[in-house]
Amino acid sequence: MQKHIVANWKMYKTIEEAQQFIVGLEPALAACEAKVLLAVPSTALWNAAKQAAGKPIHIGAQNIDFHTEGAFTGEISAGMVKDAGAQFVIVGHSERRKLFHESSEIVNLKAKAALAAGLTALVCIGETYEERNANAMEATLKSQLLESLSTLSIDQLASVVLAYEPIWAIGTGVAATSKDVYNAHLLCRQVIAGHWGANAAAKLPILYGGSVKPDNARELLETPEVDGLLVGSASLSVDSFSQILLSQQVLNFS
Ligand code: PGA
Repeated sequence: MQKHIVANWKMYKTIEEAQQFIVGLEPALAACEAKVLLAVPSTALWNAAKQAAGKPIHIGAQNIDFHTEGAFTGEISAGMVKDAGAQFVIVGHSERRKLFHESSEIVNLKAKAALAAGLTALVCIGETYEERNANAMEATLKSQLLESLSTLSIDQLASVVLAYEPIWAIGTGVAATSKDVYNAHLLCRQVIAGHWGANAAAKLPILYGGSVKPDNARELLETPEVDGLLVGSASLSVDSFSQILLSQQVLNFS
């Protein structure tokens, strides 16, 4: 399957900065064979999507509300981000789960709203350091996965991308080891296979996120069961994100 490399800019970049970034990324994009996705702030969506038209780059949002419309001051619906040019949306990022108290039930509603609007849902799951140390990693991943996705049909699952992001690895500079990533991804694949069948599981892209940098991107991309990367801080500079995209190219020719 084609590798996915996703930038999650979080609450960084103005419209102008996003525009300059996309211009700067062009040389790496031309050389890269991965599917490249940028999750930009909502304010930059419309302009970035217009700029990305015709380029091998997909623009998406970082969050949506699950209602279609209504009196929800400050919220933005899936249909609205789609209207602004988004092709995908991140749901269930651990920062939203923790800081904005989003349960897996809410993540499920958001994933369904995204799919109903014709967006790809990039659904994140991951365990905390405490859960890992208490040998609760498997149970945590399994429950987050099923509670976030189990109401989806096989057809709906075809528009989902899963990201395994161990919370202890996000923004810490300490990525999970290749072996840990392999084990977690294998577990996710088995849970998916158990619920939707082996065929659907084989087709689901499972990305890794958490302190991905230019110097570990290649090893992570080479790890079996890893279909791509979700990159936070190292996606903010054209230089480091370009290096991550090019590590995919090295992989194809080695
Ligand atoms: P990080 O963030 O790459 O800065 O660890 C990843 C993420 O939050 O998606």
